[in-house]
Amino acid sequence: MPTVTEALQMMDYGPAPESASIAQDWLKDRSFGHFINGAFIKPGETFAVTNPATGGELAHVAQGSAEDVADAVKAARGAAKGWAKLSGGQRARHLYALARLMQKRERLFAVLESLDNGKPIRESRDIDVPLAVRHFYHHAGWAELLADEFPGMRPHGVCGQIIPWNFPLLMLAWKVAPALAAGNTVVLKPAEYTPLTALLFAELCIEAGLPKGVVNIVTGDGRTGAALVEAEVDKIAFTGSTEVGRLIRQATAGTGKALTLELGGKSPFIVFAEADLDAAVEGVVDAIWFNQGEVCCAGSRILVQEQVAETFTNRLKARMAKLRVGDPLDKSTDIGAVVHTTQLERIRGLVDQAVQQGAVLHQAPVPNGPGSFCAPMLLTDLGAANIANTEEIFGPVVTLMTFRTPGEAVELANNTRYGLAASLWTENLTTALDIASQVKAGVVWINGTNMFDANAPFGGMRESGFGREGAREGMLAYLTSDEATGKERKAPAPLSALPASASGDAVDRTRKLYIGGAQKRPDGGYSYAVDGAQIPLGGRKDIRNAVEAAHKASGWSRVTGHNRAQVLYFLAENLNARARDFAPKDEVAQAVERAFYWAAWADKYDGKVHSTTGPNVTLAIKEPFGVMGVICPEEAPLLGFVSTVLPAIAMGNRVVAVPSQANPVPALDLYQVLDTSDVPGGVVNIVTGPRAELTDTLAKHDDVAALWVFADAETCLSAERHSAGNLKPVWAESRARDWSGPAGQSRDFLRRAVQVKTVWVPYGA
Ligand code: NAI
Ligand code: MG
Repeated sequence: MPTVTEALQMMDYGPAPESASIAQDWLKDRSFGHFINGAFIKPGETFAVTNPATGGELAHVAQGSAEDVADAVKAARGAAKGWAKLSGGQRARHLYALARLMQKRERLFAVLESLDNGKPIRESRDIDVPLAVRHFYHHAGWAELLADEFPGMRPHGVCGQIIPWNFPLLMLAWKVAPALAAGNTVVLKPAEYTPLTALLFAELCIEAGLPKGVVNIVTGDGRTGAALVEAEVDKIAFTGSTEVGRLIRQATAGTGKALTLELGGKSPFIVFAEADLDAAVEGVVDAIWFNQGEVCCAGSRILVQEQVAETFTNRLKARMAKLRVGDPLDKSTDIGAVVHTTQLERIRGLVDQAVQQGAVLHQAPVPNGPGSFCAPMLLTDLGAANIANTEEIFGPVVTLMTFRTPGEAVELANNTRYGLAASLWTENLTTALDIASQVKAGVVWINGTNMFDANAPFGGMRESGFGREGAREGMLAYLTSDEATGKERKAPAPLSALPASASGDAVDRTRKLYIGGAQKRPDGGYSYAVDGAQIPLGGRKDIRNAVEAAHKASGWSRVTGHNRAQVLYFLAENLNARARDFAPKDEVAQAVERAFYWAAWADKYDGKVHSTTGPNVTLAIKEPFGVMGVICPEEAPLLGFVSTVLPAIAMGNRVVAVPSQANPVPALDLYQVLDTSDVPGGVVNIVTGPRAELTDTLAKHDDVAALWVFADAETCLSAERHSAGNLKPVWAESRARDWSGPAGQSRDFLRRAVQVKTVWVPYGA
């Protein structure tokens, strides 16, 4: 007879399978066409959709061609006016109807999702589907409140939306609900591995009586996605790999299409010595073993403080060994199947490379047989440069490194191109909030991980993309304010460099660049002439120096808004006192007023506290980008400079500004005002010269985090294209603004000068 303890240890879980029949009945011999203009069209070329847990076929869906995409866009275009014209309340009712119907079919959605994607039923049932429903309810509310809460804004029109396979229905909800609430119509392309719940959703659109053409769904692979990007849409919203995000950034450059990108991540999971270690171990389970690790914001790099590293690692290994990998429809399964054999091979390939590079692999057992099952894995004894620490693996694989001090933790955490999420574990609130403020990530969870809610903005910094989804902040991605109503800007006349000898002679009489708080000769030593004045001809090297100076002036981003306001008020006063020295005369008085205006905002553009579902204080903090490039408008050499550079620095950014090429004197002369106003060196840097070339240099620069371009269409296009390297958000405007009117000081300048960081702070005694 075994003892009770032994018996408990010997006991295994009994199987607790959810029946697949509800989904199988729905799927019966189905071959799905696209959903266009309120109906499923007859499929042409199709491909098989499979169940990754068995390898079996589930259905056939159509491979969308460029013509299919064009038809869908046409339908969406046809529906756009009518949909936007409905009152917010009327649109809200449609969204409520969709939410209700989804709720009614919760079980079907959950089973279908698990069959198609391989995720455990526990997760599709308790997380994916309820959250998707919640998104529709929440955004029904935004539809209702749109006119009140977003005055002066309108929908983009037709939105192309491309989503990945890791949360098929949830990503649909994140994209479709806000787009519809804002009054857009959509063409959505689900991922080729997991199109089924989107097609079920299409059926609900019919049942809910949604006007035809408001939602269109075209299935297919990356080629279909690329066709949608090229189609006549007004906005593209994409979630997927950083690689494809780059392609889309390049393809949409210069088209005027609005763009939001939610891309990859390599998020840190930081465990401090004073953390509740058992809670943190459970946290790892939710961070990297949730959804087979196929989560963009997965905590995939554990950083643990040295003194607790051994204890923590041992407990983690013990916990990992207990994870149950297997049938996704079994309710006691922790880890289901990886979405596709291709993804499984990718995961294994990366782990092999990590091991070749010296990492030590620990893994739990995994079932034999068909199906793309992957063991949960822990990689230890590896350096920061190991491929497992630099590449997104998108599988149940976590790395572990140690740190000594909080400073070192921050350094390691930020040692990545990405900036999607971070998870911090400590019982010390001061430490937690301090580290949260220093980590470069769009979402920070304190003593938690992978928490989501429709009323919590989600999205990345750096190469994790830009734009937010969810909450008030996410609604902005689907609205536009159309403030640039002037003519298309023209490129300034080409400038001609003065011969080196002339430049050389005159070099002490010429004006100079302003870099790092000092006047600097341009690196090349050349100048160009404007109305008899000699203007420094800045180049690539000068931009690099200016960016470096701006980078060093990081203290400006940390001082309080009050401090910044004081400096800007002083600047406005000094500009006023010297008004007589400045030209053009008709811009000076307004430039002074504008400087006061942005000074007033410096300590008032606050973040928000969002109420989410669960015991959390969810903060949406507005943070500066850091170093920004500003290509000031040609058309208002003084007022345009002040109107663009000052809001950027008021929000805590440091700026490299390129003034008007044809009339740079007013901006260059501002250095005296900057010098006498306690603006720290490096906060504003001014580089004159060939604007198009300087813009490209800024666009390509990896240390420039955001770029504003008020220039001709060609310069805008080039800036957007070249920004694909580090995926900086670019605000490119080729139509002139009326800088003397309300458009010269609108809310957009504030919105575009900050990025939102969502910090989840839990409570509960
Ligand atoms: P992917 O980025 O290729 O797929 C995402 C979506 O984009 C799919 O709907 C796909 O059909 C579409 N797509 C592909 N090429 C396109 C193009 N040229 N133009 C427009 N749309 C296009 O991701 P994939 O290949 O499925 O996975 C590869 C890796 O990407 C994963 O291992 C993972 O590291 C990462 N990934 C990250 C996701 C995230 O949410 N951060 C989601 C999916 C993948
Ligand atoms: Mg599938």
